[in-house]
Amino acid sequence: MNLAVNIDHVATVREARGGIEPDPVHAAVLAELAGASGIVCHLREDRRHVNDRDVRALRDVLTTKLDLEMAATAEIMAIALEIEPDLVTFVPEKRQERTTEGGLDILTLESFYADAVQSFTDRGIEVSLFVEPEETHIAAAARTGCTVVELHTGLYANARRQADIDRQLVRLRAASEAAEDLGLVVTAGHGLNLRNLPAIVRIPQITEVSIGHALIGHALFVGMQQAVRDYLQLIRAS
Ligand code: PXP
Repeated sequence: MNLAVNIDHVATVREARGGIEPDPVHAAVLAELAGASGIVCHLREDRRHVNDRDVRALRDVLTTKLDLEMAATAEIMAIALEIEPDLVTFVPEKRQERTTEGGLDILTLESFYADAVQSFTDRGIEVSLFVEPEETHIAAAARTGCTVVELHTGLYANARRQADIDRQLVRLRAASEAAEDLGLVVTAGHGLNLRNLPAIVRIPQITEVSIGHALIGHALFVGMQQAVRDYLQLIRAS
């Protein structure tokens, strides 16, 4: 299993004061040097953390993979088509939310996302859809023409009682198998940390996890490269 590192919250700290530090691009380079398989950032409509300069600079300096998370809006899609990330991940986006709150409403918006996916696949850019771990959602995602699904692990990460944790793991396992059967690459993310990650690592279809908040928080104490190494070591040990 690979580790993609989301560097949004380095930019969140920068934006708390404005100015130029800490630089999320610096964090991304350190994450790559420590073994991350890719860098993820979410260019939000309100630019609350990473901004246009960041995604362009990341595109220039990264040597692994740039996964640009985004809402399928005309403005952000135009930027993405210009900078050509290695992977585009469509996520739902609301102004009021503190973070992405769940998977796409793919059952209602399947044809809308099919068009959005095609805008990128026509240009040879791979697309991932961030979806709830439900077979109906996976099937709808597959029909849009995307090649990757990222399973939302937020309900698993937020579960406290063991029975709830187990129920969410059953959902994630079933969704992973369904996605694999449809020929999709399976990744997962949201709310993952050093405590809840091992059970996700043991789902064989999941090839990559996308981790931001907890890893950047850990990096405050141990440094960026050590934080990435700690997550990689846990993945290998699990
Ligand atoms: N995957 C997606 C699609 C996300 O929107 C986010 C949050 O930006 C993450 C993964 C990472 O979540 P976290 O910051 O909780 O690790």
